Amino acid sequence: EKGGYQHFMLKEIHEQPKAVQETLSRRIDSKTGDIRLDGISLTMEDLQKLTKIVIVACGTAYHAGLVGKYLIEKFARIPVEVDIASEFRYRDPFVDEHTLFIAVSQSGETLDTLMSLREAKSKGARILSIVNVVGSSVARESDDVFYTWAGPEIAVASTKAYTTQLICFYLLALYMGRLKGTVSDDSYRMMMRELNALPEKIQRILDRSKDIEKLAELLYNRTQVFYIGRGLDSAVAYEGSLKLKEISYINSFAIAAGELKHGTIALMEPETTVIALATQDRLFDKMYSNIEEVKARHAHIVTLVKEGHDVKDISTEVITIPNCTDEVAPVLSVVPLQLFAYYVARAKGENIDKPRNLAKSVTVE
Ligand code: M6R
Repeated sequence: EKGGYQHFMLKEIHEQPKAVQETLSRRIDSKTGDIRLDGISLTMEDLQKLTKIVIVACGTAYHAGLVGKYLIEKFARIPVEVDIASEFRYRDPFVDEHTLFIAVSQSGETLDTLMSLREAKSKGARILSIVNVVGSSVARESDDVFYTWAGPEIAVASTKAYTTQLICFYLLALYMGRLKGTVSDDSYRMMMRELNALPEKIQRILDRSKDIEKLAELLYNRTQVFYIGRGLDSAVAYEGSLKLKEISYINSFAIAAGELKHGTIALMEPETTVIALATQDRLFDKMYSNIEEVKARHAHIVTLVKEGHDVKDISTEVITIPNCTDEVAPVLSVVPLQLFAYYVARAKGENIDKPRNLAKSVTVE
């Protein structure tokens, strides 16, 4: 059942090229190359009525929502809020009939997400959900469902659900942007090319898993790991950090790199490991300075960059991902971080598929 892999988590990490391909092909017309949202009603009229979009989720799905906000605001130019379900439902949020509420959930059974959905619905919002499990509670109670089609995810640590949730957000944001005219034909075509190239690029990262395994074996006894990044990289930093802590029990922490000097940099010592994500070309120089700041405190720095960037001067180790446009980088940069968390936990001998104190779906409040 684990298909020759030692753990479901590793199997599911390796299923990502196929899963991402599936999410894409369900929504892209093979003849015209256009995005089809069959079964989801999002007309020009619907979009004109919208004043904002609210994305609500927990854990990894929330981290996908952080990327979703960036994409929808960039491509569709609609204001987006992202919230954690257990916060959203208790804060009497501003939601009305001009709000599109997007729930993101692998299982579709997370109670706080479901209750937030009901809260938004009672205030008149349209409900669209991005869900993996077909026919789950969140799916049943939504007006429209954008299935991720990742296939069953067994390991408690979410991997292929996250990457396919991201794909749903790209498709949704580009679809809305095209309808509204906020995405030019050229950038639409460029983005479609970038999306279609992802399965093969993820595969290239997986083919080099050995490098990450070696890095994990070098660092598995570290006690404190920071993940830093800017822009989309900050969203991926949160996800990388959650992966590591939930299965390896290492105290890990993610922070937007520009925020370091407002407090957290005080924690940097020679023993500290910093995983610095620097995949965003637009923010590269700024990120470079942030890495220099932590280097000056003698931290052990692992820098994650696109191929071709020279960061040896400021890094103890370097991880590369295939070249891509900044917007799609999260789908690639998360993969080495998933592998890193996996191999660290394996080196520590932890129960990877069923980490202590955690359940696959959290159906309690
Ligand atoms: O099923 P859901 O996507 O609603 O679950 C949300 C979180 O409980 C889940 O992503 C959790 O954070 C994972 N264990 C992360 O790997």
